[in-house]
Amino acid sequence: MKKILAALLSLTMITATACGSSSDSGSKLAQTAKQVGTPKAAGTSQAEQSTQTEAAEQTTQAPQESTSGGVLVAYFTPAENGENDAISSASKVSFWGEDMGNAEAIANVIAAYTDGDLFSIQTVKDYPLDYNELIDAAKAEQDAGELPELATAVDISGYNTVFVVYPVWWYTMPQAIYSFIDEYDLSGKTVIPVTTHGGSGLADSIERFKELEPNADVKDGYDVNGDDVGGSQSDIEGWLSDNGF
Ligand SMILES: Cc1cc2nc3c(=O)[nH]c(=O)nc-3n(C[C@H](O)[C@H](O)[C@H](O)COP(=O)(O)O)c2cc1C
Repeated sequence: MKKILAALLSLTMITATACGSSSDSGSKLAQTAKQVGTPKAAGTSQAEQSTQTEAAEQTTQAPQESTSGGVLVAYFTPAENGENDAISSASKVSFWGEDMGNAEAIANVIAAYTDGDLFSIQTVKDYPLDYNELIDAAKAEQDAGELPELATAVDISGYNTVFVVYPVWWYTMPQAIYSFIDEYDLSGKTVIPVTTHGGSGLADSIERFKELEPNADVKDGYDVNGDDVGGSQSDIEGWLSDNGF
């Protein structure tokens, strides 16, 4: 069963890449999205980490101020979490003239449209480069209930709205998203899950966010099939517009 799913998921990813098309209207927009967040020292507590992050900002990074009107677009994509930032060509879509993971492409559209800040959720560990190995590794990680340590950090205090964008992995959120939820208290914030997938839609995202962030205002969310990401910009913008952004 597991191997059958792996084969189906492989096919989905290959199809997604074959069908992905570039959007030609985004390159200007892409430049408007600001990446925030800082590398986080491995093996530190959140308190230690924020002290270290502050120190790093004072010495090497520009102060991390929200210029977004309070919108953070946090995303996880394996394409930014493998060795040399390259899982495999099958997991990337050509978007705005760059090769991106599907979740990254969607996050860029949302950040550009909402004038939000982008934050790449990255893990200390690298995920396998090979797609089939990634399928197996993600399943093993999920079965073990592992919360992979995060390698990047962001000060979320200035944001009222947090989009969280990720691929569906094994009918739920990647474990890195569970790590993000574990590490950040989203109480009082509007939280909008957004997935990309091969047919599972939002999977159990809304239920899990409501359960794990009970004091957040979790909205219905949005999903984009991996096959459609390349041509999804106008649909995503329409959804954002319909929801007051
Ligand atoms: C480890 C793994 C597990 C996956 N599990 C599912 C799944 O359960 N349901 C689904 O619809 N798609 C599944 N997919 C497909 C991805 O969600 C989909 O291809 C997505 O667009 C990939 O986005 P990315 O380029 O940001 O990784 C899985 C992909 C991987 C790598």
